[in-house]
Amino acid sequence: MIEITLNNKNISVDVEPDMPLLYVLRDELKLKGTKFGCGVGQCGACTVHLNGQAIRSCITPISAVNKQKITTIEGLSTDGDHKVQKAWREHKVPQCGYCQSGQMMSAASLLANNASPSDEEVVEHMQGNICRCGTYKRIKKAIHAAAD
Ligand code: FES
Repeated sequence: MIEITLNNKNISVDVEPDMPLLYVLRDELKLKGTKFGCGVGQCGACTVHLNGQAIRSCITPISAVNKQKITTIEGLSTDGDHKVQKAWREHKVPQCGYCQSGQMMSAASLLANNASPSDEEVVEHMQGNICRCGTYKRIKKAIHAAAD
């Protein structure tokens, strides 16, 4: 049995220890906001927070997060009012939207560690999050808008 604090709630899950966290979230817990893109840690669609830091849930076995704190897009705020979510709406960032929960989770962890990142720091932090629609300019703008 694996115990985690998921979106501020203590839960336990009875799954194989090597099951990827992404599969536990989507298939066992029905939290569908975190997306499957590549499944090999290359695209960022599956980004969640582990103790506040952005991680790739597709390559993280559930056993690696036992007794730790996981936050998904569903838990980033109670009603979509996280500053990143607000900026994403204001700047109409998404196109198809598929990668955007991962983009927002990466952006939120960046701003939690660096309240006012430079352009270069934004690009460097976000470079592992791929967007096939090419919304990168709006992503950058929204991150700067959400920064202090
Ligand atoms: Fe995890 Fe692409 S689905 S990085």
